[in-house]
Amino acid sequence: MGTPTLATKMEAILTTKVPLPLSSSSSSNTPSLSLSSLSILSKTTRKLTSQTLIYKNTTQHYCPPRISAMSQTAPASVDSSTLPTQMKAWVYQEYGNVDVLSFDSNVKVPELKDDQVLIKVAAAALNPVDFKRRLGKFKASDSPLPTVPGYDVAGVVVKVGSQVKELKVGDEVYGDIHEKALEGPKQFGSLAEYTAVAGLPLAIETAYEGLEKAGFSAGKSILVLGGAGGVGSLVIQLAKQVFGASRVAATASTGKLEFLKSLGVDLAIDYTKEKFEDLPEKFDVVYDAVGEGERNVKAVKEGGSVVVLTGAVTPPGFRFVVTSNGEVLKKLNPYLESGKVKSIVDPKGPFSFDKVKEAFAYLETNRATGKVVIHPIS
Ligand SMILES: NC(=O)c1ccc[n+]([C@@H]2O[C@H](COP(=O)([O-])OP(=O)(O)OC[C@H]3O[C@@H](n4cnc5c(N)ncnc54)[C@H](OP(=O)(O)O)[C@@H]3O)[C@@H](O)[C@H]2O)c1
Repeated sequence: MGTPTLATKMEAILTTKVPLPLSSSSSSNTPSLSLSSLSILSKTTRKLTSQTLIYKNTTQHYCPPRISAMSQTAPASVDSSTLPTQMKAWVYQEYGNVDVLSFDSNVKVPELKDDQVLIKVAAAALNPVDFKRRLGKFKASDSPLPTVPGYDVAGVVVKVGSQVKELKVGDEVYGDIHEKALEGPKQFGSLAEYTAVAGLPLAIETAYEGLEKAGFSAGKSILVLGGAGGVGSLVIQLAKQVFGASRVAATASTGKLEFLKSLGVDLAIDYTKEKFEDLPEKFDVVYDAVGEGERNVKAVKEGGSVVVLTGAVTPPGFRFVVTSNGEVLKKLNPYLESGKVKSIVDPKGPFSFDKVKEAFAYLETNRATGKVVIHPIS
């Protein structure tokens, strides 16, 4: 659990945010947020008490997602005239394994363009796309090196460009700072003191977009492959709580089956003991967050859909790459607010800012439960 002191500095966020209206798109290579980024940010409108913030418990996973968009100072005290010119950030100058990451205390805090806001980062969350990008898998469409990694952010606005109407200094926000995950992501991401942070956005947007693209709707059944991961744990909850699934099945290893059930799974399948494709039961939708190749299509009903997030795609399976969209967060806000949908913070975290390499190494084991979160950032 976080200490009371820390908890009182944080404010529950995911249950309190109202997404911003969408705005025009533009790209940026600075750590600040362009309007395209703003379109995927949500903003808090009221504050919750510290008791709603739970980092982790001793039993396991059930760590509510309240990765707060809270700065270390109250919003009213934000003074944009005293911003530093240098900041701390994690950077890599070349593609490679986790060792290419280095901590740099002298990264320039960006000068804002008119359509940008600068965010003081309170927390960040890692996604597999961060290390896949670092490994050079998306070189062709990547921004130039050096790179500050990080997609998800929660923080407080400390400076706004002259054209920005939707946000003001002191607003607490969270979001995925890259509009398109793979096409020209920003050079400077959220693993820095300034930019943006949070545990949920990329994974929940992926979960939601995949379900929509699969035509998932009330009364349908679904099999989630990789149900304990950052995306899978949200697909399960959205299928059940938002889309009205009639039945949810999911795969995980032995120790995580109870966790799956706690998320609402009706049939928890131990992939170390059973082959999901051999079950007599077939599903309207199979959502593959593992990359099971042609095995996934064997579990779908005739005429059903198979969403594939990674790996080879076998028809009728289809693959998509998430596009960050504030409308999704807006739609899901009531479910987050009521606690019907929770973001799961991996119990090994949150990792402090100086432990980003350890956090990446852990994420890269492919064993994380829910989200790997970095907090505090200082
Ligand atoms: N296309 C897109 O737009 C998009 C967006 C987001 C993510 N992705 C991709 O989707 C994948 C999942 O992302 P994520 O954030 O959910 O990853 P993650 O959180 O790192 O996934 C880790 C989880 O995967 C589970 N797992 C590993 N092997 C498994 C298997 N054979 N069967 C069932 N579960 C298994 C692990 O559970 P156990 O410990 O029980 O094995 C662990 O809980 C990644 O490859 C990511 O790059 C794609």
